[in-house]
Amino acid sequence: MPVGIDDMAIYVPKLYIDYKDFAEARGIDPQKLEYGIGIKKMALADANQDPASMAANACMRLMKNNDLNPQDIGRIYVATESGLDESKAMNSFVIGMLEQVYGESTLEHAGGIECKFACVSGSYALYDNTNWIRAGESNDKAAIVIVSDIAKYDIGSAGEYTQGAGAVALLIKENPRLLSFDEKVTSTIIKNEYDFYRPIGKETPLVNGLYSNLLYLIQVRKALETYKEKAIKSGIIKLGNDESIIDHIDYISVHLPYRRMGEKALAYLLRHEWRHLSRWEDIISEIGTDEPLPKDPRGTIESILADTDFMKADEKFRREFMKTKHYKEIFDSKMSSSLQASAVIGNLYTASMYMGLRSLLEFEFLKGVDLFNKRIGFGSYGSGCSAMVFSGVIQENYKDLVKRMNLEKDIGQRTKISIKDYEILHKNTRKYDEAFLNAEDEFILINIGGTTADRAGFREYCYAS
Ligand code: HMG
Repeated sequence: MPVGIDDMAIYVPKLYIDYKDFAEARGIDPQKLEYGIGIKKMALADANQDPASMAANACMRLMKNNDLNPQDIGRIYVATESGLDESKAMNSFVIGMLEQVYGESTLEHAGGIECKFACVSGSYALYDNTNWIRAGESNDKAAIVIVSDIAKYDIGSAGEYTQGAGAVALLIKENPRLLSFDEKVTSTIIKNEYDFYRPIGKETPLVNGLYSNLLYLIQVRKALETYKEKAIKSGIIKLGNDESIIDHIDYISVHLPYRRMGEKALAYLLRHEWRHLSRWEDIISEIGTDEPLPKDPRGTIESILADTDFMKADEKFRREFMKTKHYKEIFDSKMSSSLQASAVIGNLYTASMYMGLRSLLEFEFLKGVDLFNKRIGFGSYGSGCSAMVFSGVIQENYKDLVKRMNLEKDIGQRTKISIKDYEILHKNTRKYDEAFLNAEDEFILINIGGTTADRAGFREYCYAS
């Protein structure tokens, strides 16, 4: 019985900052943001929003769009790296909010946890819930996996222009209408690393930006190697002579901390996949130089990063490779649609790749492409670090769902705020009762901490109708 994503819903806060205002305030060339990073608008959570309210809003939309009752749901998982409590799981807040609408204890029969592994945990949550259904444990109920995050970096840091906020809720069922996950191919890799981390009590992460980029690429490639072995062994892909696994995957959706990272990840994976194939000769002659080699090809990530001559030559080669007709053809046909949402929302950490999937479906559908039976390969990465590569196939009834996807409409009317107001929000000096926007048909945060000691740390939400 196929199991996978039956439907998905998004929630993106309506406040945003514009890249031109941001570039002017920080003295950066706006072209760097637009092309070098690939960002035009960064979504910002208002003073009365947090990752739990965003998660509940995405979940409520998913339930409403599909006429789901709490009895139809057996599990609600929330994957996030913006945890609100060291002990109490975010899904308990979400259940509390949903029960305000559906009735007290209506979700009592369900289960679930909050999952954490930086940006990759949503993929682990999907995998675990898919297997829960495959194992026959679901009692004919569906699972909901919500990925929700606020990507917040220090003011003035290089990460500041990769911020964003939002949530995606995914309905996981047997016989899904949208996408069925391929069995026996999911591949993971894990390592103890400090590329990006957020010690307890610190609101913004400590980041080694260039190191994190390289680690992302290496780990996703390694997971792809295992995926390749498993896909061939399980028979879902038959690799012919002079072929790459990517020839057999119709779309590629990867973790998107920023749009350009998706483009770079595709270039990195293609170089690794293609350099031993006959097409490489054509590519090299189009570029006009050989691919550079590090001084120590078997070195560590640190030694490669320290090899500055190689790094410079490799960056130059990568940029030239990205201009070749071979790269452009794959980029346009297999990836570009998945990047559109990222450019107008920003990094969503756990939710980034799933917003990318949503974007891929909507914008490929608008091109008039028949998506039925197309295979999507996913490259999920979480700092710290772990990568997961898996795939799924678009199902026959996808059109009924994809035709109603409309990013602009689903976000709603957005409000641009000034850099001054953004900085106030960033400092958390504006309280939940001083939000910029009036909430309508959504959950909002209305109080933190009661008046008595026994309610310290309580977070209270309400549905603003
Ligand atoms: P940076 O200092 O802005 O990097 O940091 P840069 O100076 O190399 O510039 C970036 C690009 O802009 C380059 O293009 C420049 O050439 C270009 P590329 O070489 O990449 O093709 N550029 C220009 N383009 C046009 N006009 C110009 C111009 N000037 C320069 N005038 C970095 C970038 C991403 C490192 C930084 O923003 C950062 O530290 N971000 C946070 C960490 C991050 O996002 N890492 C990504 C990988 S790790 C990951 O994805 C996990 C994560 O999501 C967390 C999790 O797992 O939970 C972060």
